[in-house]
Order: sequence, then structure tokens, then C-alpha cells
Amino acid sequence: MAESMQGMKRSHRCTEVSAQNIGETVTVMGWVQKRRNLGALIFVDLRDRSGLLQIVFDETSVGSDGFLKAGTIRNEFVLAVTGKIQKREAAVNESLKTGEIELFAKEFRILSESDTPPFPIEKDSQTKDELRLKYRYLDLRRPDLQRNMMLRSKVVYLMREFMAKEGFLEIETPILCKSTPEGARDYLVPSRVHTGSFYALPQSPQLYKQLLMCSGYDRYFQIAKCFRDEDLRADRQPEFTQADMELSFVDMDDVMDVNERLLQYVFEEAVGVEIKLPLPRMPWQEAMDRFGSDKPDTRFGMELHDVSDVVKNCGFGVFTGALEQGGSVRGINVKGQGAMPRKKIDKLVEFAKGCGAKGLAYLCVNEDGSFKSSFAKFMTEDELSALVKALDGQAGDLLLFAADKNKIVWNVLGALRLEMAKELHLIDSSQYHFLWITDFPLLEWSEEENRFMAMHHPFTMPVEEDWEQIDTNPGAVRAKAYDIVLNGTELGGGSVRIHQNEIQEKMFEVLGFTKESAYEQFGFLLDAFRFGVPPHAGLAYGLDRMVMHMVHADSIRDVIAFPKVKDASCLMTEAPGTVDKAQLAELKLKIEE
Ligand code: AMO
Ligand code: AMP
Repeated sequence: MAESMQGMKRSHRCTEVSAQNIGETVTVMGWVQKRRNLGALIFVDLRDRSGLLQIVFDETSVGSDGFLKAGTIRNEFVLAVTGKIQKREAAVNESLKTGEIELFAKEFRILSESDTPPFPIEKDSQTKDELRLKYRYLDLRRPDLQRNMMLRSKVVYLMREFMAKEGFLEIETPILCKSTPEGARDYLVPSRVHTGSFYALPQSPQLYKQLLMCSGYDRYFQIAKCFRDEDLRADRQPEFTQADMELSFVDMDDVMDVNERLLQYVFEEAVGVEIKLPLPRMPWQEAMDRFGSDKPDTRFGMELHDVSDVVKNCGFGVFTGALEQGGSVRGINVKGQGAMPRKKIDKLVEFAKGCGAKGLAYLCVNEDGSFKSSFAKFMTEDELSALVKALDGQAGDLLLFAADKNKIVWNVLGALRLEMAKELHLIDSSQYHFLWITDFPLLEWSEEENRFMAMHHPFTMPVEEDWEQIDTNPGAVRAKAYDIVLNGTELGGGSVRIHQNEIQEKMFEVLGFTKESAYEQFGFLLDAFRFGVPPHAGLAYGLDRMVMHMVHADSIRDVIAFPKVKDASCLMTEAPGTVDKAQLAELKLKIEE
């Protein structure tokens, strides 16, 4: 039977005792990790969030009734134990923080019993994700997740501390908001009072933080919950947390400066990673050309090469055809993989197709200088050697080429580059490569919508010197936007915002908004801007992603206490769920069958 704690008070966490406490009486409370019954002695490893402490029970100290009770202890029982810290009689356990000592139990209570857990509570669990997520509260007892959650808490604390010192105010913004277009799909919340109307959960506090700038709170900061109804991936959850900020009377460099120092502080204090400042910067165009990605992983090479000029007059129709369509031909050199078997190359071709390619052309440079290739027969010797030279190909190398529209070529080779690096273990995971990506295009052509869309959002300031091209060549106008990239993921992003009415109006026009529709969506912001708006800029980090990198997790799920799975459901609570007919009726909602 579960006993009361009354009269016992925890004095230490399990690993807050050490050899220095030998001879002292302490009280610890926690869960049973492991129990060994040696007949005259019972050993229990007691666990709390700090770690493990070995407890020893014997009949002389806990009495015969107590010893009988100790015999009933099972894994995951919750115990309170008072006793004396003593030096371990048996061998010291080097792998434990408390490996030199043990607690000799004098009094103990079973505060709660436990069913046999559906999986072992242990580090590096081999249990299937689904089962662990169904019993997430048990999963969260595992030391790896506990370490992740504790680190996350520390990161938030360090950020708050740094931001406060820098004069930022933490201000909360609403969760029930107005739906605005652009960006991802909204999560909607029906209004009971306003039949047929909906709130939207915030995708980010973007508009509110700009309004706060209009209100004079010149440095704002928030740990903000954000919601986006988009397809999930390893680094995407439908609800996630941003560390969000906005500053007034600043330009791009000011935002980057304070953020570099923030990153330096937080990474040093949280995980002892030293970051050298200033961080490198790379214009978007260069990132795409060299890495095929706007979030390049720069921990390894294998850069892209544009060979359009080299192949423009060659006899291979796939290449020249792509060029005629306004595309390009680019390649990567997978060093030393020239002997890759055909089957494996075919897999790469399939992988490329999965990324949107029509095919993947390959050329293996054999040790004797000859080639094995899917297209060599269409080219002259000279053309082939020019191509090999362009990629700095040597005997034994595997050269891969994609020919298509730029966007597809970048996408395909960017993804292949990462895939090959993973497979060939080219990435040193102990490294932290931070990189600013700057000079993003302001606009991006949407084939689906047949119009320009804002690449970042419609309030992003264009680069002044490009602005005159907004009518003649809108695609060439760059934005004062910046992303901070870490090891191939977008850790955060932001921009300088438009604060001049004329530029904002023009921007809406280019995006295809009428004056009325812009006003309908963003009227409150446009109104606010009529009453004195300071120049302002900001940035938001994906907090989950930041912690994920710090703990070298593969997914942000590992740093979120109660995450959702791929279809945005929660395996533990089974959310989302249906609701009562009465609830629907109150909201005047009907579900179409
Ligand atoms: P953005 O949309 O780039 O910018 O978001 C900022 C950062 O939030 C993280 N992030 C996510 N993390 C987990 N799951 C998701 N679904 C998800 N979506 C985004 C990323 C990203 O870099 N308001 C602007 C910021 C600004 O301009 O100040 C914004 O939201 O790490
Ligand atoms: P095909 O002419 O379609 O038989 O293709 C000849 C070779 O070119 C094959 O190895 C294809 O995988 C490759 N290929 C086809 N389309 C492309 C493309 N867009 N880019 C690169 N290689 C391609």
C-alpha cells in the first residue's frame, strides 16, 4: 500500500550527496531504477532527475518488517529513504557520480507502487518511438530526455538573462489572433460569440512585435509559442517555440551584432561551445551557387560547380536542352567514389528523381583515365576532359550532374551533397558552423499562384539600391533579410521592416493585393504606421532547433516535452479528438460527412 510522506522531508537529490557526506543522515526520494535481492541484503538504485544513488537495506537497520517490505520493492516504485551515507563496501562504480558511496537505509516508505513499465527506463532507448510517445511521461523519465529538458530550461534562462542585460523587455502577445494570408496554413479557433468567425493561432508574433515598436517599446523579446499547420519533418512541429525579438532605430548590422553576442553567450554557458565572432556572412546567391541551399552545411566541401558554359555546345541533348530552356547544368565531385557499383549509382539517380530531377548524369573517372558514364558517348574527348577539369576530377572520382531549371538543379545537388556526406561520414559532428545568409531575393515567383510572393514576409525592406528595379525586374530586387544557419539548418531568421508607406503600398501592389484587400488583412498595422513608426528590424530563433543542435539530437521531438507525430497528432492524449455535439451546436458548427 502506498504510504504517506508525512514526517519525512527530502534533504538532497540523489546525486547531491558525495563522499563528503559520509557519516551524515540524509533523506532522498525518487524512483527505483533497479533492485537486486541478495538474500541478506537488498540493493536499490534510486533515481531522480539528478541521477542515481545506491541504497542498501538490511534487516538490522530497517527491522524485520521493514526488510520484508523492502523485498516487495519493484522497478519504478516511488520511495522515500532516510539513512546514513557510507563508503561503498563493494567496488566503486566509476560511471556513477555517486559511485563511491551508498545510502544505508534506516527508515523508508513506499510512496507509490508501479505497474511494470511498458519499456525499460534507460539511456539510449531501443524502444520504438510510437510506444515511447504513447507513454511520454515515462519516456521523460529517461536520463537523455531529462538532460535535454534541463538544458532547454537553462538555454531559456540564459537568453532571458542576456536580453534583460541588453535592455530588452519581455512582452507577451496574444494567442487568439486574426488570420492573415501569406506564410503557412493557420490553425483556426471558432468564436462562440461571433458565429461563423474564427481566431487564428499565431504563426509568429510578427505583426504584434512591429506594433510594439510603434508603441515605443524599442527592444522587445519573447519566448513565444507559434503554430503552423504544415507538413512535419524532423525539425518541424505544428507548435514550436521561437525566441523572438524586435528592435527600433536599428539597421541590419545592429541586429546581427546583438544576436552574435547572444549566440556566443548562450552556447558558451549552456554547452561550453566557443563561438568566434564575427560570424561569417554569405549572400544568398553564393550559397545557392556553391551549396545548392540557402542553409548550407559548411562543415564539408563537395561544392557545386556550374558547367553550363563548358557543355553549352556539346552533343548531349539533356544538357543543351536544359540550357535552351533557361536552366543550367551543374555538378558535384564525390571524391574517391569512382568505383561505386552501378546499383548504388542507380539508387542515387532515384534519390535525385525524388528531389524533382528528371535524371542524374554521372561520370566515373577510372584509374586508367578512361570514363564510365551515362552520357560520355554523346561528347567528344575534349568536351569530356573540359568537364572533368571544371570539377577538378581526378582518377577515382565520381562526378554527378543535374540539368534543369536552376531551382531544381540546386535542390537536387544540394540534397545529394548532404546525402553523400552522411553516407561517407564526411561531417565532423563536434563542429558548430554558424553562418549568416544575407541578400535574399525580396520576391519569389509562385508557379502555383502565378504571381510573386514575398520570400520572407510582405513587410521586409528591400535593399535600397535595388528598389528602382521593382517594376522592371522585380525578381532581381534583394531584401534586407538575414537567416542564421547552423550546421545546415535554419536556426533563425529576420529582416529590416518597411516603415515607409510608399514602399509598403508598392510592395502590396507587386504582391497582387488591391488597396482594399491589403487594408482588410493588415489594416491595423497600416493604420498604426500612420501615427509615427520608427525604423525597426528583428529576428526569431527556433528555440527547439537550437537546443536540438546543442544536444546533437536528430529531431526536435527530443527537446520538446510533449511533441506531436508526423500527422500532427499526440499519441499520448490522442489529440486532436472529436467533440460533443453540444459543443459544436454552441459554436454553430456542422461537420460535413
Ligand atoms: P521564420 O518563419 O523564419 O520567421 O521562423 C523563425 C524560426 O522559427 C523556426 N521554425 C520552426 N521550428 C520548428 N517547427 C516549425 N514548424 C518551425 N517553423 C519555423 C526556424 C525559423 O528560423 N516572424 C519571423 C521572424 C522575423 O522576421 O523576425 C518568422 O517567424 O528556426
Ligand atoms: P536519357 O536521355 O533520358 O536516357 O538520359 C541519359 C542520361 O542522362 C541518364 O543517365 C539520365 O539519368 C540522365 N539525365 C536525364 N535527365 C537528366 C537531367 N535533367 N539532368 C541530369 N541528367 C539527366
